[in-house]
Amino acid sequence: MYVNSICCIGAGYVGGPTMAVIALKCPNIKVTVVDINEQRIAAWNYADLDQLPIYEPGLKEVVAEARGRNLFFSTDVEKAIEESQLIFMAVNTPTKTYGEGKGFAADLTFVEKCARQIAEVATSDKIVIEKSTLPVRTAEKIKEVLSSNTKGVHFEVLSNPEFLAEGTAIQDLFKSDRVLIGGDDTKTGKAAVAALVSIYSNWIPKEKILTTNVWSSELSKLASNAMLAQRISSINSFSALCEETGANIEEVSKAIGMDTRIGSKFLKASVGFGGSCFQKDILNLVYLCKHFGLAEVAEYWHQVVKINDYQKNRFAKKIITGLNSTVKQKKITLLGWAFKANTTDSRESAAIYIADVLLEEGAEVHVYDPMVKKERIYQDLTTLWESKQFSSLEIVSKLERCLVHSQYVTALKDSFAAAILTEWEEFNTYDWEAIAEGMAQPARVFDGRNLLDDSVSNQLRVVKIGS
Ligand code: NAD
Ligand code: UGA
Repeated sequence: MYVNSICCIGAGYVGGPTMAVIALKCPNIKVTVVDINEQRIAAWNYADLDQLPIYEPGLKEVVAEARGRNLFFSTDVEKAIEESQLIFMAVNTPTKTYGEGKGFAADLTFVEKCARQIAEVATSDKIVIEKSTLPVRTAEKIKEVLSSNTKGVHFEVLSNPEFLAEGTAIQDLFKSDRVLIGGDDTKTGKAAVAALVSIYSNWIPKEKILTTNVWSSELSKLASNAMLAQRISSINSFSALCEETGANIEEVSKAIGMDTRIGSKFLKASVGFGGSCFQKDILNLVYLCKHFGLAEVAEYWHQVVKINDYQKNRFAKKIITGLNSTVKQKKITLLGWAFKANTTDSRESAAIYIADVLLEEGAEVHVYDPMVKKERIYQDLTTLWESKQFSSLEIVSKLERCLVHSQYVTALKDSFAAAILTEWEEFNTYDWEAIAEGMAQPARVFDGRNLLDDSVSNQLRVVKIGS
């Protein structure tokens, strides 16, 4: 099959960068990215590339080259479905907040809506590709929905999970460790897999394109995220033990990681992992295991999330204890709100939970992040408190004690303590000697990312994770 027209439903953190890179590497394929969010699509089409709806290093250069040539962003979902041979679904799959599986299962409403729309609109054969992260065996449900098409269309469903990490998305897409494609072992299934392989092989070496059955592909995505998150929770659990024993987590991490069987990546102790996927995907895995009657397996993976919650709480308590066990009416500065560096994304960021605990204890929380906007920070807190069913009066009064700064200097002035929550490199370049002088004495930094050099200032008491 010669592919010359594809589309992607969902223009978010995955759909946008993934399709931009496919368009860049495959100039002969027309790539249309569609979304129901008009604002988001408008932002993808802004002439000023600094206004793109998401920030990723290298993204604007890719969009600059491909947009208008063979990369298009639109709200016309039906037209894109009709015109495309391959349809990627990259819609969000958040944790369910209602009904059966609430708090664990993935909410598949958006995926189902997409499939329904494809079934309604399609008049020619289509290859439908799961790009979103989905529970194992979702393809079965998608096929069922697609079978409601009344125009005699044949649909092939493939699983092609995305492994990019935010902040490094473009590099991850250029040089993927592997591209995973799951398809049916039938004649049409194999042809569909071959069509997708033909796209990726424009820039990904053949040996890195792995083809499997659909269920292995779906499960491998959840399993990969679970294994990555497990490493962080494991190292974070040792950080607690280090603090009790005089061992140093940086040294322990280095010693462990030098064993080539273990490897050094993803062993950085922190305030806890954030982001839109690790927690959601592990909770989904826990739900799946329970569903299949595997209670012990469910509990094993649930611990990874529980340790993460423990680590976030432990860090917040460390700040409170370090300030004579009371933070009431004390100015505390949070440096960093994004869930990791090089992104404006703050979904499930540890900062939200640390701020919540400190505000609950009566602190005056001041926030500085080089990239996350004030509105986003207030929205994150509001969403959390709404989920806890706080009244709007309570929310407004709490927000009054949370100030967002555009300058780190004002954020830190007269502060009782700073807490580093995101590993932004710029925090290491500050004149900490001068900052310490302007803080309430003794000046303290709670370094939730073990980012600051030990020699940063004699005047500053730096409290690290795991030592
Ligand atoms: P996102 O929320 O940024 O984007 C999803 C987009 O889909 C939104 O813009 C939404 O408006 C749109 N959408 C929802 N329903 C739609 C519909 N019926 N028609 C058209 N558009 C619709 O989400 P994301 O971060 O891009 O994640 C998407 C999926 O990819 C999730 O399953 C996630 O787990 C997975 N994933 C995410 C990452 C990541 O780093 N963010 C990495 C790998 C995999
Ligand atoms: C993660 C995976 O790394 C991707 O492979 C996957 O595609 C993606 O989830 C997904 O499915 O959404 P992402 O969440 O964007 O990517 O970012 P990571 O780099 O994995 O970081 C996640 C969190 O873990 C961040 O808060 C980060 O600061 C933290 N982290 C990471 C640590 O605390 N220690 C580490 O050693 C590494």
